[in-house]
Amino acid sequence: MESSPVQPFHHLALALLLFVFSVSVSVTEQGLVPSIRTDAAALLSFKKMIQNDPQGVLSGWQINRNPCIWYGVSCTLGRVTHLDLTGCSLAGIISFNPLSSLDMLSALNLSLNSFTVNSTSLLHLPYALQQLQLSYTGIEGPVPESLFSKNPNLVYANLSHNNLSELLPDDLLLNSDKVQALDLSYNNFTGSISGLKIENSCNSLSQLDLSVNHLMDSIPPTLSNCTNLKNLNLSFNMLTGEIPKSFGKLSSLQRLDLSHNHITGWIPSELGNACNSLLELKLSHNNISGQIPVSFSPCSWLQTLDLSNNNLTGPFPDSILQNLVSLERLLLSYNLISGSFPSSVSYCKSLKIVDLSSNTFSGTIPPDICPGATSLEELRLPDNLIIGEIPAQLSQCSKLKTLDFSINFLNGSIPAELGKLDNLEQLIAWYNSLEGKIPPELGKCRNLKDLILNNNNLSGIIPVELFSCSNLEWISLTSNQFKGEIPQEFGLLSRLAVLQLANNSLSGEIPTELGNCSSLVWLDLNSNKLTGEIPPRLGRQLGAKALSGSLSGNTMVFVRNVGNSCKGVGGLLEFAGIKAERLLQVPTLKTCDFTRFYSGAVLSLFTQYQTLKYLDLSYNELRGKIPDEIGDMMALQVLELARNQLSGEIPASLGQLKNLGVFDASHNRLQGQIPDSFSNLSFLVQIDLSNNELTGEIPQRGQLSTLPANKYANNPGLCGVPLIPCESGNSNAASNPASDGGRGYRKTAAASWANSIVLGILISIASLCILIVWAIAVRVRHKEAEEVKMLNSLQASYAATTWKIDKEKEPLSINVATFQRQLRKLKFSQLIESHQWLLCSKPYRVWWVWRSV
Ligand SMILES: *[C@@H]1O[C@H](CO)[C@@H](O)[C@H](O)[C@H]1NC(C)=O
Ligand SMILES: *[C@@H]1O[C@H](CO)[C@@H](O)[C@H](O)[C@H]1NC(C)=O
Ligand SMILES: *[C@@H]1O[C@H](CO)[C@@H](O)[C@H](O)[C@H]1NC(C)=O
Ligand SMILES: *[C@@H]1O[C@H](CO)[C@@H](O)[C@H](O)[C@H]1NC(C)=O
Ligand SMILES: *[C@@H]1O[C@H](CO)[C@@H](O)[C@H](O)[C@H]1NC(C)=O
Ligand SMILES: *[C@@H]1O[C@H](CO)[C@@H](O)[C@H](O)[C@H]1NC(C)=O
Ligand SMILES: *[C@@H]1O[C@H](CO)[C@@H](O)[C@H](O)[C@H]1NC(C)=O
Ligand SMILES: *[C@@H]1O[C@H](CO)[C@@H](O)[C@H](O)[C@H]1NC(C)=O
Ligand SMILES: *[C@@H]1O[C@H](CO)[C@@H](O)[C@H](O)[C@H]1NC(C)=O
Ligand SMILES: *[C@@H]1O[C@H](CO)[C@@H](O)[C@H](O)[C@H]1NC(C)=O
Ligand SMILES: *[C@@H]1O[C@H](CO)[C@@H](O)[C@H](O)[C@H]1NC(C)=O
Ligand SMILES: *[C@@H]1O[C@H](CO)[C@@H](O)[C@H](O)[C@H]1NC(C)=O
Repeated sequence: MESSPVQPFHHLALALLLFVFSVSVSVTEQGLVPSIRTDAAALLSFKKMIQNDPQGVLSGWQINRNPCIWYGVSCTLGRVTHLDLTGCSLAGIISFNPLSSLDMLSALNLSLNSFTVNSTSLLHLPYALQQLQLSYTGIEGPVPESLFSKNPNLVYANLSHNNLSELLPDDLLLNSDKVQALDLSYNNFTGSISGLKIENSCNSLSQLDLSVNHLMDSIPPTLSNCTNLKNLNLSFNMLTGEIPKSFGKLSSLQRLDLSHNHITGWIPSELGNACNSLLELKLSHNNISGQIPVSFSPCSWLQTLDLSNNNLTGPFPDSILQNLVSLERLLLSYNLISGSFPSSVSYCKSLKIVDLSSNTFSGTIPPDICPGATSLEELRLPDNLIIGEIPAQLSQCSKLKTLDFSINFLNGSIPAELGKLDNLEQLIAWYNSLEGKIPPELGKCRNLKDLILNNNNLSGIIPVELFSCSNLEWISLTSNQFKGEIPQEFGLLSRLAVLQLANNSLSGEIPTELGNCSSLVWLDLNSNKLTGEIPPRLGRQLGAKALSGSLSGNTMVFVRNVGNSCKGVGGLLEFAGIKAERLLQVPTLKTCDFTRFYSGAVLSLFTQYQTLKYLDLSYNELRGKIPDEIGDMMALQVLELARNQLSGEIPASLGQLKNLGVFDASHNRLQGQIPDSFSNLSFLVQIDLSNNELTGEIPQRGQLSTLPANKYANNPGLCGVPLIPCESGNSNAASNPASDGGRGYRKTAAASWANSIVLGILISIASLCILIVWAIAVRVRHKEAEEVKMLNSLQASYAATTWKIDKEKEPLSINVATFQRQLRKLKFSQLIESHQWLLCSKPYRVWWVWRSV
């Protein structure tokens, strides 16, 4: 970078330099009158410390050249005034000491380099410095208390993204009366800042960013004297105590961010006094209680009000919105706010996002939100107590992209007028009492991605008009009253990733066109009246072109059915903005006796899945053979075919399904032997082949023989562990009715044999426990980085959590977070190992999914 504003001085500088270098080459001592020569010497000794210069930016820094034309150097009046080596990827253990003689240097910018710098060297920065940009510079150690008294001219100091640690000195800002911006975010400061002394710097200070550290204790009340403060960011720390009432004095305040701390108490109504300038108020992820003060009503500049994830109660004071004409984001999710939906949102003509998720709002959705709130893009109300109908007038909010009404008490039908919402991407209203038909007009919403209407009382047929919405990615109509056939037009939806039509009254055959859905990985058609044969090709085919970004940003949960009170393996639910506890209050889900579930945001890797991953066709009237081609669905994890009238043999090709965790084909009319290829399935932990007409020996290699006997019950010809032993040479042995005594004997023998196997396993586990813990610890460490990365990406993608509702061990679960990536293959021995390891109760995040107990 060359000096541009001072071109005329180039010639002067050059002349001076030529003079200096040609006439007095021999004079080399330091300590002479500061000049361009001493500047050059200082820069060269700075260069000497740099060990790696991959871009070669310093190659032109040569003693015989004018330093004013060196890369990154700028001069004014023949002296070096700016040094800017931003993003040059320079490396080396450096100090700032050589720069101290650059007595005219006013701006230093070394950010985005890979240095290692001892923080004490900050005290050797040149005295005249005004602009200091040292973010991402590799500075380590405590910040020197006298930084600003040694550099009293500093106006801008950015030391963010370093490794500054220990306490932040109380006196740091005590006597600096020029500093306007101080950014110490993304460092490693700890301890209290409540004693921060700031008296003299107050007049100048306009930006203070201490976010993303480990600061503790209460917010320094002294800050409230800094009436020129515009931006105060203390987010992502561990601050406690209350928001100082005196912050109301901050009459220039534009952005106040105290989110992600442990702040308690009420929102001081005095904060409303800072309204004249306030643009952003972020208090989310704290423990703030009480009501939202009415005093915010004059905040006519306010753009963002984020009070989400707190403990706020009481009704939302509707009147405060009337003057908030600049408000763009009203974020109140995850609180205990009650009262009716704030109808005065219609005054907020700039409002884009209203998120009231997970509160106790009641009453109806007001019909007149628009045309007032004409900018509205997202209206999120899931997990509240809203009643009445979806107002047709919402169609006047023409910019709407997201409507989320899940888990409320809405009734009436879906207004056809919603079809006018050209921009609509998400229509999510599961678990309400909506009735009537899906309006064919919805087919005009060409941008529709998510149509999630499960657990309502919708009826009629699935309208073919819907298939004009070629961007559909997730359709869930489970648990409604839909009739008629599954339209073959589903095959037109090339982005469709999840299709759930379970628990309706759909009839006819499964359309073979579902084989054209090149993104489909999740297909749940259980509990209908489907007839005919299973089409050989379904969903995503191996080698199909991946469409990127399907379902990205969705938060989902998989609720695993336990016991027999509900059909199917479980349900996949859209879960953004819903409290986990609330699921227990949903009666129809509660009866399914689920006790655990996992959630997470969908990662972008979704499209990496080749082929269907989840196929549930149980509880229908399907006939014919299980197609051999199902063995080509390499990613298949769940294959549920129970309670149909399937016949013929189990195709040996299913033994290729290396990821298969659940295979349930019970209550059919399957014949022949269990294919020996099943011995290779290392992941299979739940198999149910009971109530069929299978014969022969259960393959004794692999896991099949370790599963409970009832999974093979009522197959008159089946034998071998865990059933009775096969009589060699007599294939009918098992089906021969033996005497009670003989049967009992054989059972006991088998049982004791099984016991000794179990005992053997237990003994070897016990003796290997230390080894196992060690081995897993090594593996865990190896995996941890990856897991942390994944966790981070989950957290980054908004409202994503991974939780369980109780600590009970899960015999079988799907971690939907992993539903995005190929599962780790586990051998049976590893399963035991991992399980044992859990018994050893070390903190290990269980990212793999299927686990046998
Ligand atoms: C370096 O920092 C100075 C002072 O903050 C700033 O004006 C300049 O734009 C920065 N240079 C780059 C390349 O970011
Ligand atoms: C930084 O330098 C000071 C004094 O020169 C020294 O005491 C300290 O140990 C150094 N810190 C590191 C992390 O090297
Ligand atoms: C400090 O630098 C970081 C990284 O370059 C930048 O993102 C941030 O905005 C800067 N802070 C201020 C107050 O300018
Ligand atoms: C930060 O510095 C501390 C010592 O002050 C050191 O233990 C730690 O490893 C450093 N962290 C990074 C990321 O460099
Ligand atoms: C923060 O500092 C502590 C101790 O000084 C060190 O152990 C830790 O690694 C540091 N953390 C980071 C992220 O650098
Ligand atoms: C604010 O400044 C006044 C006068 O300088 C002083 O008396 C008062 O204690 C200061 N307030 C805080 C909270 O520091
Ligand atoms: C405060 O800092 C955090 C973390 O650096 C950042 O995400 C947030 O946007 C900042 N808040 C404001 C109001 O600038
Ligand atoms: C939140 O604050 C209340 C008191 O106001 C306290 O009882 C509760 O334990 C706090 N919760 C958390 C998570 O800190
Ligand atoms: C909310 O406040 C109540 C009562 O003050 C307290 O019992 C509860 O723990 C708080 N909740 C959270 C999440 O802090
Ligand atoms: C919807 O529910 C409300 C009461 O919650 C009732 O008054 C109204 O008649 C219902 N509407 C329909 C269409 O069922
Ligand atoms: C569902 O709708 C049908 C009419 O389509 C009605 O007979 C039935 O009572 C409704 N069920 C519920 C639970 O509202
Ligand atoms: C199936 O749908 C009916 C109503 O259509 C509902 O009552 C029942 O709970 C649903 N079953 C499951 C397992 O969700």
